[in-house]
Amino acid sequence: MPKVTITTDKLELEVKEDYPLIDMCEDYDTSILFGCRDGACGACMIRVKQGAENLSPMEHNERDFLDTMAAEPNERLACQCKVRGDVVIEVSE
Ligand code: FES
Repeated sequence: MPKVTITTDKLELEVKEDYPLIDMCEDYDTSILFGCRDGACGACMIRVKQGAENLSPMEHNERDFLDTMAAEPNERLACQCKVRGDVVIEVSE
């Protein structure tokens, strides 16, 4: 099973493949915050430290939003990601 490490929370969690990151964050009490849940507010911005290739690919709306925010290349919106392999993330500031 894929392992998600959230360095901000010092958490290591195992989840089913293709499990939405937002559901995982709700199952466990993580410090990743959510607002719109639709890729439009940026509340759930995370920084991917390792395993970016193990998150679901970015859709158009996420790419457009991150471009608008001038996000770093390793930043993603947690509400738009599904877990497909081991990944290490932290909360973006
Ligand atoms: S919760 Fe709004 S962009 Fe993810």
